[in-house]
Amino acid sequence: MSSALLRALRFMRAYRLTAAAAVFAVLAASAADLVSPQILRAIIDRGIAGGETALIWRGALGLIGVAVLGGLASFLQGFLSAKASHGAAFDMRNAIFDKLQRLSFSYHDRASTGQLITRVTSDVDLVREFVGGGLVQAVSAVLLLIGAVVLLFSMNAVLALVAFSVVPGTLLVLFLFVRRLGPMFRLSQKRLGALNAVLQENIAGARVVRAFAREDFEIARYRAADEALLEQGLSVRRTVANAFPLLFAVGTFGVGVVTVAGAVQIINGTLTVGELVAFTSYLFLLLSPLYIIGFGAQSIARASASAERLFEVLDAPVDVEEKPGATALGQTRGQVEFRDVHLRYPGDTRETLAGVAFSVEPDTIVAVVGATGSGKTSVVNLIPRFYDVSEGAVLVDGYDVRDLTISSLRARIGVVMQDSVLFSGSVRDNIAYGRPDASDEEVQAAAGAAQAHEFILALPDGYDTRVGERGIKLSGGQRQRIAIARALLIDPRILIMDDSTSSVDAETEAALRENLGTLMEGRTTFVVAQRLSTVRRADLIVVLDEGRVVDLGTHDELLATSCVYAEIAASQLAGGEEIEVPGACSIEDGES
Ligand SMILES: Nc1ncnc2c1ncn2[C@@H]1O[C@H](COP(=O)(O)OP(=O)(O)OP(=O)(O)O)[C@@H](O)[C@H]1O
Ligand SMILES: [Mg+2]
Repeated sequence: MSSALLRALRFMRAYRLTAAAAVFAVLAASAADLVSPQILRAIIDRGIAGGETALIWRGALGLIGVAVLGGLASFLQGFLSAKASHGAAFDMRNAIFDKLQRLSFSYHDRASTGQLITRVTSDVDLVREFVGGGLVQAVSAVLLLIGAVVLLFSMNAVLALVAFSVVPGTLLVLFLFVRRLGPMFRLSQKRLGALNAVLQENIAGARVVRAFAREDFEIARYRAADEALLEQGLSVRRTVANAFPLLFAVGTFGVGVVTVAGAVQIINGTLTVGELVAFTSYLFLLLSPLYIIGFGAQSIARASASAERLFEVLDAPVDVEEKPGATALGQTRGQVEFRDVHLRYPGDTRETLAGVAFSVEPDTIVAVVGATGSGKTSVVNLIPRFYDVSEGAVLVDGYDVRDLTISSLRARIGVVMQDSVLFSGSVRDNIAYGRPDASDEEVQAAAGAAQAHEFILALPDGYDTRVGERGIKLSGGQRQRIAIARALLIDPRILIMDDSTSSVDAETEAALRENLGTLMEGRTTFVVAQRLSTVRRADLIVVLDEGRVVDLGTHDELLATSCVYAEIAASQLAGGEEIEVPGACSIEDGES
């Protein structure tokens, strides 16, 4: 058994009483199996051969009674082990989900959704199947095996030794077989994950597929992944199928040898016929646990592969982790400083940010501008510690953000991300996501400030309209404004808006700006801005180029001194036609 599987068994700890009761039921069922041949022997030797008729009747009743008790015990065993294993699976799923909630952005950047979903569903289930079925069966098989061995030796040591000769052969076949199957099952689960990844991507991206008329391509892609899974499933089956004839051959050989040796002993008068019958029954008791372990072996191999996949998630390092004894950020002024910040994303060789340095006073508006891919999102994502700097430091109120508790830091920061996700639920629930206890008035005030109140009232059920997965479809701009309201509702000291006004029309943007003016008051606001009108009002403009700060200043200062800014203002910011690039700047050089 692999170590991952042993670790998975720890999830059974909470259900140890139920599991112990299941094992007890197995013991009772096994005892019943062991007792019947003894009764049978008495019926044959003393009842039939010895003429004790009463014993035949009592023996028959005894056999029935034992069968009923055995059946009851088997039922209890099935029920109890299912109860314990489903409980353990419940805990496993929750443990993985908890972990997924704590894993950093960088983990989710790399992880495939399809693979993760497969782990939470299929892999958990395979481990559960083993724990609920395979494990109890294996325990019962081992107990039966021990019982059979003891009985066989006490009945007839010579025959027992002969019978025992099949055990090493069977175990060898099983061992080789499990070793081959482990990696095969692992590949099988990986292919199931890949299939789910294609499925997930296609459901999420259905509109893009239609838009580019790539349905046939996607169908072929899914079929290829499905074929890979099928092929793997069949090759597992083939391996399993190959092992069984071998096992049965070894077993049948054993039965043959014992029968011949027993016949010789009967002829010599050292064995009775009843003893041989009982002995042959126990021989099956010896072989059937071996077969059970054989069947169980594939469940062990499969569950081990799945357990390893589960622990890969549970053991994944959390990149952004809280320091032990981190300080809770109390009253926040909202002063932010970037101190020679370098950022290299995990697994990336290039530096995305190289020496970003600037300082922001409380209650100011900072605009971050730059070409696409210049690192604007990367800069603002460092403030709430979505990623950690590779070198340098980001400070809030003079504290290195890595010295603060993550929850206290993020509770003071409102974020409107570049692509906003809404959850399934009402509009109200979505706005109140960060503060579920907010009153209706507060929700509406935030919506009003985000210029969302009007259109929300026009929705079929107003604030109770369901949005998200199974709800009404909102436009990109509407979603964006709900996301802004969501960020404003937590009344953050630091507000980060990444491109949040880009999908809003000019008129709304103007109104939004008016309102945000009041809302930005008393906060430090970072805007990754697309519109000149927003940038112009900023107290500080950070001009990024390929991960470096090339210029810092206000709109008027930068227009006079920075050719990069003038160029961006003229060509990239919406509404930039009023800007004239100073004649001294040669756009080709891009240098001032
Ligand atoms: N999570 C990530 N992992 C690895 N590389 C990333 C990640 N996010 C961004 N990058 C890389 O870092 C660089 C800067 O990206 P960033 O998203 O910060 O640019 P941006 O200025 O916000 O661009 P845009 O205006 O298009 O939003 C890009 O080259 C991008 O490929
Ligand atoms: Mg960006």
